[in-house]
Amino acid sequence: MAQTQPTRDPRLFIHNLVKRDPLTGLAEDVRKGLTAYPKRFLPKYFYDQLGSQLFEAICLLPEYYLTRAENEILERYADEIAAAVDGDKTLVEMGSGSASKTRLIIEALLRSQSELMFMPVDISATALESSSRILLQSYPRLRIEAFAADYFAGLAELGKKSRRRTLALFLGSNISNFDADEAHRFLHAMRSVLKEGDALLLGADLKKDPAMLEAAYNDALGVTSAFNLNVLARINRELGGTFDLHAFRHRAFYNEGVGRIEIYIESVLNQRVRIENLDLEVQFEKGELIHTENSYKYDMAGIARLATATGFACSRSWFDSQERFSSNLLLAA
Ligand code: AVI
Repeated sequence: MAQTQPTRDPRLFIHNLVKRDPLTGLAEDVRKGLTAYPKRFLPKYFYDQLGSQLFEAICLLPEYYLTRAENEILERYADEIAAAVDGDKTLVEMGSGSASKTRLIIEALLRSQSELMFMPVDISATALESSSRILLQSYPRLRIEAFAADYFAGLAELGKKSRRRTLALFLGSNISNFDADEAHRFLHAMRSVLKEGDALLLGADLKKDPAMLEAAYNDALGVTSAFNLNVLARINRELGGTFDLHAFRHRAFYNEGVGRIEIYIESVLNQRVRIENLDLEVQFEKGELIHTENSYKYDMAGIARLATATGFACSRSWFDSQERFSSNLLLAA
């Protein structure tokens, strides 16, 4: 059951649907991941406060072209994107985070309609609250009904709300971190809360020269390495872990056959690590890898297939000037 937080601003409602105690979730998933073979962590655990800031830093790196490419598209085409969906619209965003790119779409919508309802869904209630307050200060004609929830719980709640014509956003190539099944399940769930004529703007990074892809995940400054190893630091901080961060290293490479960047943490020596709060000792062999994330890269045929398989039609796509990134308008068919 959603818990609606009263806020002092009558233009802001926040529904908090986060059920699990986050520390219990982390503990259970770390135990599962470190006793599995091969070992793995879930990418959602990258994003504690420090990890979220490291990700913001990644978005500024010269090698990590994705954010700049998507910004270029939205800066150039936001009005066209807004006009591609008929009528006055409600704006929904999945995984809104700091909502910085959203501003470009909000501004385009407010150029063509007198007021706007924005419904962001994000797992972090604090990120939602702070980004919402900043947006409301900038845009007096904006109202926000926000959902602190994982994607599926957020979509279930959104489905219960009556909305006008809806433009939903899933930006930043967040789709990249889903495998094929998860991408299908997510788009199906998204489609089931949209009506015919509503649309989803899907940001997707494109397949390209492996050297450019690998550079984006192996930056010279080492920010992506810090982002990756922060998961071990987080286990040390929150679960009494004893990982020596110097004894592990970041690995990322493009698996061309599957079309994805694979990210791992590698143990540089044979070692045992104790995690006090889990009463768990884990053995690592030299060279052993912990899988932390995949980042799938798309081509236009793959996006079209995903769209049609989930009840959408890919009606238009926009690209940055170097055609590295795509923003795709999927119409609810
Ligand atoms: C959030 N996601 C789209 C990023 C990506 O490019 O897959 C996460 C990331 N991991 C390392 N660098 C960026």
